[in-house]
Amino acid sequence: MPLGIKIIDVRKIIRNIFVLFGVSLLITSCNPSEESISSPDGSLKLTFLVEEGVPMYAFSKGDSEVIQPSSLGFKFLNIPDMNADFEIIGIHKKSANLVWEQPYGEFKTITDKHNKLFVELQEKGGKKRLMNVVFKLFNDGLGFRYEFPKQEQIDSVQIADELTAFTFPEEHEVWWTPVHSDNSYYESFYQKTPIGDTDTINTPATFETKDGLYLAIHEANLTDYASMTLRKVKSNQYVSELVPWANGVKVYAKAPFVTPWRTIIVAEKAADLVTSTLMLNLNEPCVIADVSWIEPSKYIGIWWGMHLEKYTWGQGPKHGATTKNAKEYIDFAAQNGIDGVLIEGWNEGWDGDWTANGTAFSFTQAYPDFDLEEVCRYAATKNVRIIGHHETAGAAKHYENQLEEAFALYQKNGINAVKTGYVNKFLDGKEWHDGQYGVRHYRKVIETAANYQIMIDNHEPVKGTGLQRTYPNLMTQEGGRGQEYDAWSADGGNPPEHTTIMPFTRMLSGPFDFTPGTFNFDYQVIEGTRVQTTLAKQLALFVVIYSPQQMASDLPENYVDKPAFEFLKKVPCSWADTKVLNAEIGQYVSMARKDWNNDDWYVGSITNKEARQIEIQLSFLDADKKYKAEIYSDGAEAHYRTNPYPLVISSKEVDSNSVIKLNLAPGGGAAIHFTPVSTE
Ligand code: NOJ
Repeated sequence: MPLGIKIIDVRKIIRNIFVLFGVSLLITSCNPSEESISSPDGSLKLTFLVEEGVPMYAFSKGDSEVIQPSSLGFKFLNIPDMNADFEIIGIHKKSANLVWEQPYGEFKTITDKHNKLFVELQEKGGKKRLMNVVFKLFNDGLGFRYEFPKQEQIDSVQIADELTAFTFPEEHEVWWTPVHSDNSYYESFYQKTPIGDTDTINTPATFETKDGLYLAIHEANLTDYASMTLRKVKSNQYVSELVPWANGVKVYAKAPFVTPWRTIIVAEKAADLVTSTLMLNLNEPCVIADVSWIEPSKYIGIWWGMHLEKYTWGQGPKHGATTKNAKEYIDFAAQNGIDGVLIEGWNEGWDGDWTANGTAFSFTQAYPDFDLEEVCRYAATKNVRIIGHHETAGAAKHYENQLEEAFALYQKNGINAVKTGYVNKFLDGKEWHDGQYGVRHYRKVIETAANYQIMIDNHEPVKGTGLQRTYPNLMTQEGGRGQEYDAWSADGGNPPEHTTIMPFTRMLSGPFDFTPGTFNFDYQVIEGTRVQTTLAKQLALFVVIYSPQQMASDLPENYVDKPAFEFLKKVPCSWADTKVLNAEIGQYVSMARKDWNNDDWYVGSITNKEARQIEIQLSFLDADKKYKAEIYSDGAEAHYRTNPYPLVISSKEVDSNSVIKLNLAPGGGAAIHFTPVSTE
């Protein structure tokens, strides 16, 4: 029997929050055509206006225009468009200031402090249809969404286009990836160009302005809607472009409904993009009443061996997921305090071209050389978590048909974490991963998994939009170019700058199952393709890349007797606090993160292909404590291309006034573990 999740009435909670903290102001009588709010700290300003019937918004920071007046509205296939002839019939303002707790994350607590402007619009002519626009202005940026209230004038709609414009005062530089052209699940390199050189781009898209601001456009709470991409209209303007169904419809909806939040983070430093909590604040509170079973986890896996062609997913002499191999991995995890073991290729359906259409996959039938029950029994005796695996090759319906049985089987065997995968350009042969079809499918999987108390690590996903707040069993996702490309990608793998870009782009959409942890750089699947970092940088990535299910991805034999492995054993994957100490997108980044469970801190610092000296000011440490700093840094000869291995491990006593100087090699990095020194 699946265990039910208690769905809490989120609207009631939100109403209570406003009763407790809100100041509400209702303006209805004066029929204004313009209204503004400021962020709680007064630095940001949002203006809503109706100009000749067209709803518009403008957004600024101090004297800098962030978004010039930009239009809002919709085109429909089955009813007349709603983008003109509007008047304001109601304006409500509210403020909120509250703190909420996460079950795990990059911060233990999050402050939701914002001012809200709720605008009720009505068409002046025709059927006098209603549409609302809601703005929430935080100190770190803006979120806004459309609401279609229940009304006699609108029932079911087919959205042909959402017409949200983002008009900048000038042509900015933007970090972007293309939509669907290289691949359909965001695994392209980010590039930085002027807006004019882009076409249609994915979000998060990160902009650098000539005023020295950093902006990131994305969306929050993508629920039963199509994902938003940005179509360039002019060299200073994008308009929202929703990912369509195969038949061209963008979204099927029925009033009342709301859209996801359109979000714009505004930061004076690139570093501040990373610590923005805007997206999480714009998602609904947790709906899972008991989250005690949701646990961050570090894991190894029968995985890299397949990518290195040491093993196969399918049957044969090199089959990786055998009972024997699984037990050896479990032993290794138990001996080294690693929480979990991922097992891929255990089930029927991998033989031949498994990427073809996925309908051969069974999620309940194991291959004859893999005894699921026995492996799970053995893992339990060693206190090791098994992470199950469901590769669908995009056959979403086929998977949905087996979902209950598949999760029930795992639950029966004590498995409470599953990695899912969708390697195929389309879902079910024709639908995009990030259209409404995909959004519905992925949500169904997360909700069903929650019913079976199962955590999800979703590969080839629709982009993250902060749903982990509402469904904390959505632990992590791929949705970015992961380290697996360094095994088999014909382009040589991920260049050193890749991971200095991801924190400011892909990772703004949530946790990333990048799978760091390479210790052996001497494999060769394709000539010239290899992990392009030093060993020290691999350690640093465990701090820089947030993933509450975090993989130590190399083969166990490559970790044996390696002093560097001590860092991987200790480093946590859930953080009470996060600080970005210094950063330049595409060049370097240093982060300090505090262990969720104790007073230890960790620092990860990484560079692109340039060697550099970085000074780490330790002012984040507790002022009244002394710490032992264990430093893992690049050795003198280290170089990502010629000699990734040299690593120096040193230790010293430090306090919050200390500064640590790090020499990062080309493609290198450094990792530091700070432990309070007992003064007794
Ligand atoms: C692609 C995933 O990203 C990778 O991690 C996995 O091993 C394969 N699909 C097989 O499911």
